[in-house]
Amino acid sequence: MKKFPDNFYWGGAIAANQVEGAWDKDGKGVSTSDVQPAGIFGEVVERDGSVSGIKDVAIDFYHRYPEDIKLFSEMGFTCLRVSIAWARIYPQGDEQTPNEAGLAYYDRLFDELLQHGITPMVTLSHYEMPWNLVTRYNGWADRRLIGFFTDYAVTVFGRYREKVKLWLTFNEINMSLHAPLTGVGLPEGSSQADIYQAIHHQLVASAIVVGRCHDIIPDAKIGNMLLGGLLYPLTCKPDDVLKTMNENRGWLFFGDVQCRGAYPGYMLRFFRDNNIVLDITEEDREQLKNNTVDFISFSYYNSGCATTDEDTIEKSRGNVLSMIQNPLLPVSEWGWTIDPTGMRILLNMLWDRYQKPLFIVENGLGARDILQDDFTVDDNYRIAYLNNHLYQVREAIEDGVDVMGYTSWGPIDLVSNSTAELGKRYGFIYVNRDDTGRGDLKRYRKASFYWYADVIKSNGETLVPNI
Ligand code: BG6
Repeated sequence: MKKFPDNFYWGGAIAANQVEGAWDKDGKGVSTSDVQPAGIFGEVVERDGSVSGIKDVAIDFYHRYPEDIKLFSEMGFTCLRVSIAWARIYPQGDEQTPNEAGLAYYDRLFDELLQHGITPMVTLSHYEMPWNLVTRYNGWADRRLIGFFTDYAVTVFGRYREKVKLWLTFNEINMSLHAPLTGVGLPEGSSQADIYQAIHHQLVASAIVVGRCHDIIPDAKIGNMLLGGLLYPLTCKPDDVLKTMNENRGWLFFGDVQCRGAYPGYMLRFFRDNNIVLDITEEDREQLKNNTVDFISFSYYNSGCATTDEDTIEKSRGNVLSMIQNPLLPVSEWGWTIDPTGMRILLNMLWDRYQKPLFIVENGLGARDILQDDFTVDDNYRIAYLNNHLYQVREAIEDGVDVMGYTSWGPIDLVSNSTAELGKRYGFIYVNRDDTGRGDLKRYRKASFYWYADVIKSNGETLVPNI
């Protein structure tokens, strides 16, 4: 029986703004997520202190984390990926001193995890930053953001150095190309030049904090986080293959800079061809070169296709990431293709390219689960999705890929990021709250809860080739 490595991390992944709620508690400042009640593609609604959307309470993880961690532990988790809300630590982003109440909250959270034998993996910035940095500085367009982010990172590295040994810099850093407000604090419709300049500042900040993490916590590992936007050519026409290569490079570029320490030639050409002139200093180049990541983490939900055929492109306009749907694959209720083999392809692709350990930090199925009268949830479709993807992870390990761990997305139901829905559920644990905010927030174990516990207990031996 093929097995996973003995020290493989098993668990789940959540993000502060999608679970915590308590949006204005204990001195927290307003974040970019707080002003986007309808999700990352929704309108900006300035806060006036009143309740604005589902995320304000979310699943109330801020108060209920002990109960939730107990449930994670019951499933046998050895790792939980969480994020720190930057605006809890520096409410405005540009203060001299951090907010002690925010720091103390994460102390309690990490202590609780460690008491249950669960290793925390912490994302420094998961789709949120203090809103003041956007309104006052124009977000990451301003070079001073590098300093603010470094101060924040150094503060949390220092504070949690005994508790947290696995860190990630920016969640899905390549997403800024599609959701610039969430990614780099620039309005929709910003020019490519502005977005790439802001991205450059973020890449430099990512590199600097990799170095600072190594100085402050020598036994820690710090990785980047990519949205694994795997694309296949829609046909075998060489032009489609070339376009696919270029589109894959559109996101791999971030990995290239963070893993290899320099801008790749194809990107320099892209900038030349598009008259984009970036302000890159010698010092920036040094930082990028000297501070590459220890490992690569990524999310993978679905794959897509690329083509040069204009009619097909026109028909699929409006898709997130401008992916063309694969005609040979099934889709989820939200239209995301389901492609377990893509997991193996992606793992091999990243390993071949970088030869650095890989960590799957998001993967899962959003679905409309039904809580039955006896408080059970029969989510066999989720079991099938996860089994089939995990089986391919194991195949990739057999291929020789170095995989550190797997944290499924949303081990407990949470607010979706793109559409801010609670009805799009990912969890092994059902949370009784709906899109309108109705429900008592009680937690219930779904069928997948028991299934995942068995997978972890057997270190993957219970997985089957296909469900
Ligand atoms: C990833 C994000 O893009 O996908 C998560 O890192 C997000 O924050 C997840 O929740 C799933 O997307 P959605 O829109 O279904 O929540």
